[in-house]
Amino acid sequence: MTSFPSVLESVNDLTNDQIIELFKLANNIENDKVLLEEKNSLKKPTIYTLFLEDSTRTKLSFASCAQKIGAHYLDFPIHTSSMNKGENLEETLLTLKAQGADLVIIRAKECEILNQFTKNPPIKLINGGDGKNEHPTQALLDFYFLQKTIPLELNELKNFTLGIAGDVIHSRVAHSLMKLLPRFGVKVALFGPTHFIPQDLHQYFGKDITVYNDKQSFLKNIDLLYLLRIQLERHNNDMVKNRDELKNEYLEKYGFCENELCNFKNKYIKVMHPGPVNVGLELDLELLKSPRYLGLNQVEVSMPVRMAILLQMLNNNDIKQTTRENNAKRISYSIL
Ligand code: CP
Repeated sequence: MTSFPSVLESVNDLTNDQIIELFKLANNIENDKVLLEEKNSLKKPTIYTLFLEDSTRTKLSFASCAQKIGAHYLDFPIHTSSMNKGENLEETLLTLKAQGADLVIIRAKECEILNQFTKNPPIKLINGGDGKNEHPTQALLDFYFLQKTIPLELNELKNFTLGIAGDVIHSRVAHSLMKLLPRFGVKVALFGPTHFIPQDLHQYFGKDITVYNDKQSFLKNIDLLYLLRIQLERHNNDMVKNRDELKNEYLEKYGFCENELCNFKNKYIKVMHPGPVNVGLELDLELLKSPRYLGLNQVEVSMPVRMAILLQMLNNNDIKQTTRENNAKRISYSIL
């Protein structure tokens, strides 16, 4: 098996074998079978988070994971840094490297911000979410959780359909999931307002993705529901104009309530959500507080999965290597 890439920008930077190996390590971490500090090839690595956009789960889980694996952890102080004086990202990363940093986790409003570094990385980099492009570590932890929640071997996931509902077109998590899950045979079903569903889906994500216009048919055909919030901060001006109108009718038409799922015949549909949630839009408070809601379980598994990702990245000694698979098409459709 090839070693991990030095830049983890997309789920497609990892081969299926690397993902299976990553999940074995995460499982061993979860079951206390790994002495974390001894797993490090570097004595006391230094890991930074550099978040140009807000975050609770991603930033703080990486911060905590870095400490648990015995690394020095530092958060790059965006608002008091020389990036405010115009220093660009590459110079910033080279400066951190010169100060002894080994790996930086970056979040940005801009799509594909790490793409400029894949050929010649200034330092090891993990994408903590770039605009509406991708959120590879969230998709990996979701898939890890999914295959643990459904007690099936990876090659039996073929019979499983994940239903993703909401603002798919602006969701970096949805984009990563739609690239990742079909590679392991998992089918994806989508539901949401037409302008939230990418029009040229199959060109970018393959044929295992089905779009439903009717909520009942969607629920009938899925095994687990994955909700997305409306990502208002990534909408263009036309969508902003419709914001109030959207809020008034969204929950009923496109969101999900506990009462509605309770009454759904012959099926106990569990609900995942990457967070943060917007109560009253994509779900109601009763659903958020119901046992079927798994959002906090996803946060729990983020710990072993992100620790495993950090260890695999730190143990790759060649920062020039990249393993992006050629069969993976990059997403570049435009917002309607
Ligand atoms: N899921 C996720 O990315 O959450 P944060 O924005 O809180 O990091």
